[in-house]
Amino acid sequence: MTLSPQFLDELRARTTLSTLIGKTMKLQRAGREWKAPCPLHKEKSASFFVNDEKEFYHCFGCGAHGDAIRWLTDHRGIPFMEAVSELAAAAGMEMPARDPQSQARAERAATLYEVTGRAAAAFVGFLGYQGTPARLYLEHRSIDAHVVNTFSLGFAPDSRTAIRSALGDMGDEKLIEAGMLIRTDDGEPYDRFRNRIMFPIHDSRGRVIAFGGRILGKGEPKYLNSPDTPLFDKGRSLYNIHRAAPAARKSGRLIVVEGYMDVIALFRAGVEEAVAPNGTALTEAQMEIAWRLSDLPILCFDGDQAGRGAAARAAIRALPLLEPGRSLGFAFPPPGMDPDDVLREHGPAGVIGMFAFPLALTEMLWKHELQAKQVVTPEDRAGLLHRLRGHARTIRNAEVRDAYADWMKSRYQHHFEPRRPPPARPMLPYPANKFHAR
Ligand code: UTP
Ligand code: MN
Repeated sequence: MTLSPQFLDELRARTTLSTLIGKTMKLQRAGREWKAPCPLHKEKSASFFVNDEKEFYHCFGCGAHGDAIRWLTDHRGIPFMEAVSELAAAAGMEMPARDPQSQARAERAATLYEVTGRAAAAFVGFLGYQGTPARLYLEHRSIDAHVVNTFSLGFAPDSRTAIRSALGDMGDEKLIEAGMLIRTDDGEPYDRFRNRIMFPIHDSRGRVIAFGGRILGKGEPKYLNSPDTPLFDKGRSLYNIHRAAPAARKSGRLIVVEGYMDVIALFRAGVEEAVAPNGTALTEAQMEIAWRLSDLPILCFDGDQAGRGAAARAAIRALPLLEPGRSLGFAFPPPGMDPDDVLREHGPAGVIGMFAFPLALTEMLWKHELQAKQVVTPEDRAGLLHRLRGHARTIRNAEVRDAYADWMKSRYQHHFEPRRPPPARPMLPYPANKFHAR
């Protein structure tokens, strides 16, 4: 669907920008404008100005600039069309008619949100009145009522019909399309999630789009996830994004962990800006989402072989997408632990401590390649340099690519001839005092 310039002009005119921005941060009157310390870079003074007449915001410190739509897309991570329709709804404007095809798609999606939303509420209810084993399990994992409420955790009873009958009025077809029921060839469709703790997965606007379900105790599979549906594209969603995004915009930090329980462990340690991919390797699309929220997302994967491998693969996958000023950092739990174990063993300070000095992407790649193969002979050395240069060559941005090639070369030279000066080894301070344990 295309939107006319006239429509967008009227939308901007009918939106009071200071009110919109004022929803997420405090603004101070400054003559005909409003001002505040810029939410997009660290500063003590107020260089961020909002001008309602001119319909834009501008930061004299970091140059951030935009209108109401831009504010929602860039700073709240909302897709363009959704930002426009949110503003239109607030301004009492009708969205221009869609072509029939996208109309049908939107209608289909709307009812599916209703299915997932109502299913989430049903799971919360089941946890309350027939979830004794689930409540015991949560207690055993030290998850209290506050955490249960914050993450809207629920319980799917050990039944093939609990959700099917709770949402009976929506029809089997919708429930199947939303991933809640499994279709059988001959018999009746039945509940996908049975006897599991339910973790709702939200989109950036806080709507439930899918679920992860954990078995109580041991068993296979440990987690069962919703299939891809019209609402849920696994490789493009991040668990907890709706809560992490506002927190990340405030702090400029974002932590990417492996699992649902890790996100929850970080929350319990006072770190709200945490997300997790849903049981798959971090995709390019997920990295792009992370970079919209922070220039330096920190990846903190499990401290086992698999976690370390996943971190290295993510580093290599990120290279083509690097741009000046945007990178990844890496934090590591002690060997054999995940963030949840760290919380149990070392408390909130242990969790927060992991993020104090993340490893830079350059150093991560260097270490990974240095350990990948033995380096004894000159051929081995040449092989190492060859692999490092190969990584640098995958970087699409020319400036970053050159900077990487230079850095890798001098890191290599310094390693084998320690009297040569080392390249600056990036230390990435991540101020720990910004985290408050709860
Ligand atoms: P983990 O096995 O590390 O789970 O898998 P976890 O989150 O730490 O949970 P606990 O502490 O063992 O209970 C990490 C993530 O991989 C996905 C889930 O998203 C999980 O959170 N996963 C894992 C699956 O999708 N299926 C599985 O069978 C296992
Ligand atoms: Mn884990």
